[in-house]
Amino acid sequence: MPHGKLLLMTPGPTLVDFETLLAMAKPTVNHVSPEFDEIHREAVDMLRRVFGTRGGVVILPGSGTSAMELALRSVVKPGSRVLVLRAGYFGGYLEKGVRALGGEPVVAEAQLGSGFTAGDLDRLLERNRDVAAVALQHVDTSTSVANPIKELAETARRWGIPLVVDGVASVGGMEVRMDDWGVDVCFTGSQKALGVPPGLGLVAYSESFTGEVEARGQWSLYFSLPDLLREMESTKNYYITPAVNLVYALRESLKTILAEGLEERYKRHKVMAEAVRESLKALGINLVAREGFQADTVTAAYLPGGVEWPSLYREMRARGVEIAGGLGELKGRIFRIGHMGQVGYNELVATIAALERSLKALGVDVKLGQGLTALQETLAKHYL
Ligand SMILES: Cc1ncc(COP(=O)(O)O)c(C=O)c1O
Repeated sequence: MPHGKLLLMTPGPTLVDFETLLAMAKPTVNHVSPEFDEIHREAVDMLRRVFGTRGGVVILPGSGTSAMELALRSVVKPGSRVLVLRAGYFGGYLEKGVRALGGEPVVAEAQLGSGFTAGDLDRLLERNRDVAAVALQHVDTSTSVANPIKELAETARRWGIPLVVDGVASVGGMEVRMDDWGVDVCFTGSQKALGVPPGLGLVAYSESFTGEVEARGQWSLYFSLPDLLREMESTKNYYITPAVNLVYALRESLKTILAEGLEERYKRHKVMAEAVRESLKALGINLVAREGFQADTVTAAYLPGGVEWPSLYREMRARGVEIAGGLGELKGRIFRIGHMGQVGYNELVATIAALERSLKALGVDVKLGQGLTALQETLAKHYL
């Protein structure tokens, strides 16, 4: 597993395989050449499989937020009300995004650590029948809360209201089946569970929504879906210059993902998440996300009493591991471990070992091996 001096265990960017990094070192070619057109087409086709759609997919030079903006533009027109289900900091991005496009966000906020059930969405739609769309995170990376997208999509479909899902911290690590479940728009960024460096926004549309989306949306010069979709059919239909070398990396990583197998990959993420949760619990650390709403890709946990985030960050780095702190209202209260993409079981062992020693160095009453034992037991339980 490639990494620099520090083992990257943040919830994005994530570890990038050597093969993927090396793919970027190939010569940059003309973006409208037949060679690149073929590479781009392969990436688009493989992305369709990861998103579970036969519809349109856009590869956009930009971060996850660029993908969010393109996705929101697909459903938000000036004056349209959009139901935003907020389960953490990134729900605030959706709210801000809707407002920036002249829409009116109707925000429902989950209790800290919780997400939304189908019943919650039903009740909210009962009171807000006029909304143009529902938007939410699959996983809110700030709280590590995961929403049950399949059930929520069924509910939204029953109401006939388009569903926009921020899959930035899930796509490639947790199951998403857009066409089967009825998720109309879903997006991610390259630097999370897809295991690619930062720099690409990926937006996918369900097969049934793709036909409607051009007419529904609000487009700008850069975020012009009709033009972008034409370019996605063939890069010969130039609209904006693709991030050629990042597309090489994306194609390489998608090959790795599909070679692992989506089912296997989702299973691996589930086991990694369980192992991290069990080891943190064994260390007496409280988790942010409640049972039933826990993500497979990231775990947020409260800092033990007396431990300041800057000290834990420093101690972890001194032991070779980079983890993340809190965002928004959880800043200074929590830490987060990313376990998505190309991160594997061995990296978890190294991370929990470093965490135990860091906590001990900070005066926390932990017995070395306490968390590792739970981690080992969990892996062994799954015959790993
Ligand atoms: C769930 C979620 N949505 C959106 C974003 C924003 O993505 P980016 O920072 O790539 O613009 C992030 C970033 O971490 C995220 O985790």
